Amino acid sequence: MHQWPQVDTPLPGPRSRELWATFDPIVAAPMQDHDEVPFVETRKEGSLIEDVDGNVFVDLVSGWGATPYGATPSTVIEAVVDAQRRYGMEITDYVQNEPAIELANKLISVAPPGITRVMASLSGTLAVETGVKLAREATGRPMILVFHGQYHGEVSYLTASVSTDLAEVNSHSSAYVGGLVFAPYPNQFRAPFHKGPGPYDDTMYIDFLEEWLLLYQVEPTQIAGVLIEPVLGEGGIHIPSAAFWERLTGLCKRWGWKLILDEVQTGMGRTGTYFASEHWDLEPDIVLLGKGVAAGGQPIAAVLGTEEVMAATDVHGGGTFAWTPAACAGASAGVDILTDPETMANVARIEETALRIFTPLIEEIPQVADVRALGALIGIEFVTDMETIQPAPAFHRAVHRAAIRRGVLGVTQWGKWVYRMQPALTIPMELFEWSCNTLVDVIREVAKNPPEEPVNLLERVPPEGGTRRR
Ligand SMILES: Cc1ncc(COP(=O)(O)O)c(C=O)c1O
Repeated sequence: MHQWPQVDTPLPGPRSRELWATFDPIVAAPMQDHDEVPFVETRKEGSLIEDVDGNVFVDLVSGWGATPYGATPSTVIEAVVDAQRRYGMEITDYVQNEPAIELANKLISVAPPGITRVMASLSGTLAVETGVKLAREATGRPMILVFHGQYHGEVSYLTASVSTDLAEVNSHSSAYVGGLVFAPYPNQFRAPFHKGPGPYDDTMYIDFLEEWLLLYQVEPTQIAGVLIEPVLGEGGIHIPSAAFWERLTGLCKRWGWKLILDEVQTGMGRTGTYFASEHWDLEPDIVLLGKGVAAGGQPIAAVLGTEEVMAATDVHGGGTFAWTPAACAGASAGVDILTDPETMANVARIEETALRIFTPLIEEIPQVADVRALGALIGIEFVTDMETIQPAPAFHRAVHRAAIRRGVLGVTQWGKWVYRMQPALTIPMELFEWSCNTLVDVIREVAKNPPEEPVNLLERVPPEGGTRRR
């Protein structure tokens, strides 16, 4: 395997094409979509991915956040393999075992203030389902306040209907789910009531809650909880202000709403602190964990809660595959990497490097509208021009495609215009700097001859062979 990104064949390469010829005719439509990742992977090492044609890419996706310490962190993999040999598969919900007990203790030891309890779960989606159930059970109230632009999963009806990160994602699931009220998520660049750059105060979103939503749509005493991502991830890396959080948590206290923080993407060190809630000293009632808690081992998720919400609940969050011994052992080894001070120090370097390299592009390139980063969650927003700030999904896609040809695999999704990077928290700085500099070259290249953009975002169509997925 090349020890540095290097693309030797056209993409997709001949072997990738051959394999897909046997795969596409037998899988569902979304699995036939190769537009965004035009290769078949054969192995990973650290932050490098090799495809079946021998091309090597730097991995800025990190298993969508589930491999925060690189592809195969040795302590995690050893712990997983040892536990798998020792226990095989086990139903932890019924037959409890040592790795589960160790993990529960470790998660509580790093949890935000006020969190004293943990519940097993298997995926981000299930953690969200459980968090919502817990809030309803704890308050006896029906309604959940959620925010437009968030992503909470799309496999269950509840999570799909609250995942308004592009309306297509929810596949009209909201028709089957009641008990939700929506408000816009704070967006410093594209606020619905205040467009464009310039003075901006995101407490206007709380004004909207108080002066509109709670007045005209739902009584505050009907709301059980607020389901919110502390930093909007899939929705384009938006970071609310301290003033926003102060007023939102003020409403929670005033009206008895449970604060349900979806830290599936932001938790376990992704934003430079163990939990994103630490940036604002939040005291959540319920914290949802997924992705990073797996540490690159086996699938696992968790719901954390306060004494009040969880000590005497009847809600069950587990399930047959939740917290298998191997998954718990891997996640435990992951907590040890998280709490090594070098890990958070590297995340701080990632944020500093991304902002230093990308921010000057805002002045240089008319299509680069905004650069946002918190820890190792990084986004670049593309527009047609700064006057209209019209989203530029075609520019975004062109950047992504050109970057892959140079060996950089970031996060793109059809129809979006914020290019995202979520490297391993432990990525070597030299490789990350190279990735950022390569992206800068690519953005300059695309800006010389920008592609035509859809006139109307609502009428944009997926590219040939692409599907409307998140
Ligand atoms: C914030 C957030 N919540 C929930 C989920 C769903 O997690 P999963 O895909 O494990 O079901 C995701 C996945 O991207 C997410 O980003």
